[in-house]
This record gives sequence, C-alpha cells and structure tokens, in this order.
Amino acid sequence: MLKILVIHGPNLQLLGEREVSVYGQVTLRQINEGLQKEAQKLGVSLQITQSNHEGEIVDRIGSAKRLFNGILINPAAYTHTSVAIRDALSASGLPAVEVHLSHIYKREDFRQHSMTAPACVAQVTGFGKDSYNLGLMGLVAYCSQQKPIKKVHSKRKAK
Ligand code: DQA
Repeated sequence: MLKILVIHGPNLQLLGEREVSVYGQVTLRQINEGLQKEAQKLGVSLQITQSNHEGEIVDRIGSAKRLFNGILINPAAYTHTSVAIRDALSASGLPAVEVHLSHIYKREDFRQHSMTAPACVAQVTGFGKDSYNLGLMGLVAYCSQQKPIKKVHSKRKAK
C-alpha cells in the first residue's frame, strides 16, 4: 500500500475563519476528512501534519524518505520564500505535489512565484479544497507508475 505524507504549512489551521473571501469556509478538519475519504477510494494510507514552523516542515520532509512513497504539500506562505523547504523536497528524492486552495497566479505579485514548485512533480492551484483531492489523485497515479514492474518472461520461440 502506498503511503503518502500530507503537510499543511503555516496558518492553514485557521482555515474556515481566515480570509474567508479568499479561502472559503472550509476548515482544515474538513479538508483532512475529504482527503481520508479519497485515500480510502484510492487504496493508499495518509499521515497528515500541519506546522507553522519552517524548520519543523524541513525535519518532517527529511525523515520521510524511507517511510513514505510521496508527499502532498501546501507550503502556504513558505511557498514564496523557502529555499530550505525546496531543498528538503529535492533531497528527499520523493515525488511531491504542491497544492493551493487559491489561484496563486491571479493574486498579489509576491504570490505569483513558487520557490518550492520546481522541487515537485506538479502543482494544483485554485480549486479550493478540491486542489487537495486532485493533487492526491495525481500523486498516487504518479507513484503507481514509479513502482517497479515485475519482469514478464516471454516464452521462448519454438524453432
Ligand atoms: C495558499 C496560498 C499562499 O500564498 C498563502 O500564503 C497561504 C495559502 C493557498 O492554499 O492558497 O497561506 O498556499
């Protein structure tokens, strides 16, 4: 069974009460419940974590290598600033998908650059809470393709 580490970055614990006009009324708890349902359908297991601290996120990514097959991450504000999280993602060697509730390329200039996305296999942005489920689906499809395929021995041709 594939194991996926889900990381929510800073201030996402405030979803539902924070800038509702941008992020909607959905809470982090609801997002996590939706992800667990999707994970069940996909037959994968999730470990979900949220942190407001850059170093803690770096540590979680750093210890993920042998424990997980992939990372689903919303680095939140660190998206736009964190060389440390980008380096941690690259160093992990794990496929990661970056997700955002809002459409970061339609917002303020400083949000229109992602420091972390180049260390990810893909980015999903702008679908609200659905960004998470879509990101998980994509990540699981990607990880499944990465699994070693059993060698099929073809029958020897009869002479
Ligand atoms: C966000 C977008 C970031 O720019 C912002 O700092 C967040 C949330 C999103 O999910 O839309 O905290 O990552």
